[in-house]
Amino acid sequence: MDKGSFYLTTPIYYVNDIPHIGHAYTTIACDVMSRYKRMKGFDVRFLTGTDEHGQKIQSAAEAKGMTPQELVDKIHVNFKELWKALDISNDDFIRTTEPRHVRAVQAMFERLIEQGDIYKGTYEGWYCVPCETYVPESSMGENRTCPDCGRPLITMKEESYFFRASKYVPQLIEHYEKHLSGVMPPVRYNEIMSFLKSGVHDQSVSRTTLKWGIPVPGDEKHVVYVWFDALINYATAVGYLDDPAMFARYWPAVRHMVGKDIIRFHCVIWPLMLIALGINVPVSVIAHGWWTVDGEKMSKSKGNVVDPFKMARVYGADAFRYFLMREVPFGNDGDFSELALVGRVNSDLANDLGNLLNRSIQMIVSYADGVVPSAQPSGDATDSDVRSLGASTLKAVDSAMETFSYDEALKHIWTFIRRGNKYIDETSPWKVHEAGNAGRLKEILLTLHDTLRLSAMLVAPYIPSSAEKMWAQLGLPGSPMAALLDDFAWGAGAGAKVKRGALLFPRIDVEKWKEEKAKEKAMNAASVSDAPASLPSAPSDHEPQIGIDDFAKVEMRVALVTKVEEVPKSKKLYKLDIDLGYEKRVICAGVKQFVKPEELLGHRVIVVTNLKPAVLGGVESNGMILAASVKTPGSEQVALIAPASDIPLGSRVH
Ligand code: MSP
Repeated sequence: MDKGSFYLTTPIYYVNDIPHIGHAYTTIACDVMSRYKRMKGFDVRFLTGTDEHGQKIQSAAEAKGMTPQELVDKIHVNFKELWKALDISNDDFIRTTEPRHVRAVQAMFERLIEQGDIYKGTYEGWYCVPCETYVPESSMGENRTCPDCGRPLITMKEESYFFRASKYVPQLIEHYEKHLSGVMPPVRYNEIMSFLKSGVHDQSVSRTTLKWGIPVPGDEKHVVYVWFDALINYATAVGYLDDPAMFARYWPAVRHMVGKDIIRFHCVIWPLMLIALGINVPVSVIAHGWWTVDGEKMSKSKGNVVDPFKMARVYGADAFRYFLMREVPFGNDGDFSELALVGRVNSDLANDLGNLLNRSIQMIVSYADGVVPSAQPSGDATDSDVRSLGASTLKAVDSAMETFSYDEALKHIWTFIRRGNKYIDETSPWKVHEAGNAGRLKEILLTLHDTLRLSAMLVAPYIPSSAEKMWAQLGLPGSPMAALLDDFAWGAGAGAKVKRGALLFPRIDVEKWKEEKAKEKAMNAASVSDAPASLPSAPSDHEPQIGIDDFAKVEMRVALVTKVEEVPKSKKLYKLDIDLGYEKRVICAGVKQFVKPEELLGHRVIVVTNLKPAVLGGVESNGMILAASVKTPGSEQVALIAPASDIPLGSRVH
């Protein structure tokens, strides 16, 4: 059944930083919605990508001693890897440095110049360099600081191209007056309407102060302002310039999901650009709230940035996805706590869903040789109740999803799952079996299988890989994602051969978990205060791929450890004298807690020899020994790396 198109986008993420929970949240929310709409029969297009131009990127590249192009080529891969780890089903991934996008931006810019909606002028104002935004006097923070990041503003004057935004404001107000869901939720709609009514100035859309951007066509001393460039990605990716048929198919159905901090760009500037170009305004912009962590704002300096890779590795992508979608009403701010996540795994996923599956499969195996019986509904009131709750759940979930109320949808789904567990208690199939009531037993087993089949379909957008596992255990062919929710029919699973499988979500022992967390915290505190930054710390498992040339830059050689001394005042460091055959050196190694001096003394090790010297614990270290390490909650293991057979000192490792 073709329900029409549904085009959904995430913001494109800046590649000056590693991905964190905020990025994961938006992308998971879009993924859940895309999967859901596919299961409702929509022609879905789901886009994500990376924002690769502008001052932030140029500065980050400078700080790392790279060119901006090198930086974006390296960092954007982290996002692609994260989306794999989190089971994200995007149809496309756009990078703003791609030629398809550069051409689209230049074409739009040129068209707006031609029609007089972009003109040249001079801009003077208070400017926030990290946010790349001019800040009006009225919204400055104390002592002329940026209202968003709190950093000091500078005065700036430059020749600039301006977009005649003011001209189209009345049209946009009129549009929103007719389309109340143009901005969601209502609190953001109101915010945008009052902003629009307070007046919008023409917008500066070019910069002469930086190089890393898309050149303004015909005036190459200017580059296009990063936000003007970035917003256009949504149109580029569905063929604005190159594929009119695709554009006609998806654009009218476009919805943007964004964090509440970037709604003015999406609900004011972007629609004004679109109106000027004669293109439809998005159906809606859906704004979500912000995550704090254990009650505090997330920041690198506090060391509380939640690493989504780690969450997926430790708890599984599904548990993490479920938690983020269930924990806060969409649109509100939320607080991330691992303990709350563990609680949800145990109660909702292991207890409610996992138990229903296990108990039901077990009974189908015991009482029907694993084959789901067919049965005619006898009109039993308990069965009818389950069926009618199933039908009303499908409707309730659909209306919750219309307003992006993920937590509401999940509450409805779990009411149904819990009803399934209650149904087992009410019908007591073991008693029906003992009483030899074969007809009723068949009906109960079929109802249980139906309940699980529908549950697997309903949870599939949220926890796709667990839904697949459920589907396989239920003995159903294909995948729950390929099933259409509107086609769900009671009794259709009769004849399936169920297969007992591993627990979907093993329970986490909370007491043990707390002990391990406490140990991990203590160890981290020790290593933060003690660890020299240039020693090998546990690398991310998700470093992007590098070319052989990058690898060749690291010079590693075989060395002999000739002396081992402790570095006073350091819990971690040894001072080692090493012999490279052609030269002797002193290096520091942060392995004291894991390796005894005799395991080093007289042994051959591998040393990185072209690392810049660093002073560690008061000792100048001229290289780094290689060791493998793994951290699990509560423990860390370290093993030195050595050549497998004797080889002359100084031999190079390739
Ligand atoms: N590049 C721009 C978007 C351009 S879209 C045309 C940008 N990038 S960003 O990487 O800084 O942020 C991307 C998204 O992450 C934003 O929607 C922002 O709201 C979201 N989040 C960043 N930190 C967040 C939390 N702590 N919690 C939830 N979302 C947050 O802005």
